[in-house]
Amino acid sequence: MRLKKVKDADNIVNASKYVIKNPYEYKGQYNTLFNNNNPISIEIGMGKGDFIIGMAMKYPNVNFIGIEMFSSVLVRAVQKLEELKLDNLYLINMDASDIDDVFDREIDTIYLNFSDPWPKNRHAKRRLTSKLFLEKYDLIFKDEKKIFQKTDNIDLFAYSIESLSNYGYVLKNVTMDLYKNEPEDNVRTEYEKRFIEKNTKICRLEAYKR
Ligand SMILES: C[S@@+](CC[C@H](N)C(=O)[O-])C[C@H]1O[C@@H](n2cnc3c(N)ncnc32)[C@H](O)[C@@H]1O
Repeated sequence: MRLKKVKDADNIVNASKYVIKNPYEYKGQYNTLFNNNNPISIEIGMGKGDFIIGMAMKYPNVNFIGIEMFSSVLVRAVQKLEELKLDNLYLINMDASDIDDVFDREIDTIYLNFSDPWPKNRHAKRRLTSKLFLEKYDLIFKDEKKIFQKTDNIDLFAYSIESLSNYGYVLKNVTMDLYKNEPEDNVRTEYEKRFIEKNTKICRLEAYKR
């Protein structure tokens, strides 16, 4: 992702009440942050936030947490949120490698949208559907494990299908052309909107594990 320099991104992110400053403190008790027991869904690598903000607006009875490692990107979502004032969405500025130190058996669904593909074999562990990450996700899911992925990258999609299946996930609603029949409830991400303009095909899957 090309990063535009955003003046004072760190300061804006750190000053926002929508950004959780010490996410480790809430481990196992994120329901207290939201003040309710609604399910909690997360998006890892949320970028500028179009998807997670859209989801939070569409589903007020679900709690959402967006995770993004670069403050220079996250700041765009913060700026949008300050105007919208949603009470079912918080953001965390961190690398998802630490995800199992931040959540404990309290997550309902994980969304992975247009994740970095890490094409080189030696970087395969960094893919967000690698066994290393799936093991971490096991520790944060509450009940049934649900991972929903969208990507334009065929190689990452094929890798994810194999990795998720090998790990015991059952795949449903797998498509290599989401826009052949776009579901009514599809919420478009920032990257997705760009790909649609270029007529790039979008792959999507749902993965479930008990
Ligand atoms: C290609 S962008 C997609 C952004 C957004 N999901 C979308 O679809 O528009 C991938 C984003 O994931 C973030 N990212 C990649 N690896 C991450 C990680 N391990 N932890 C947190 N964020 C990560 C990147 O910084 C980048 O903003």
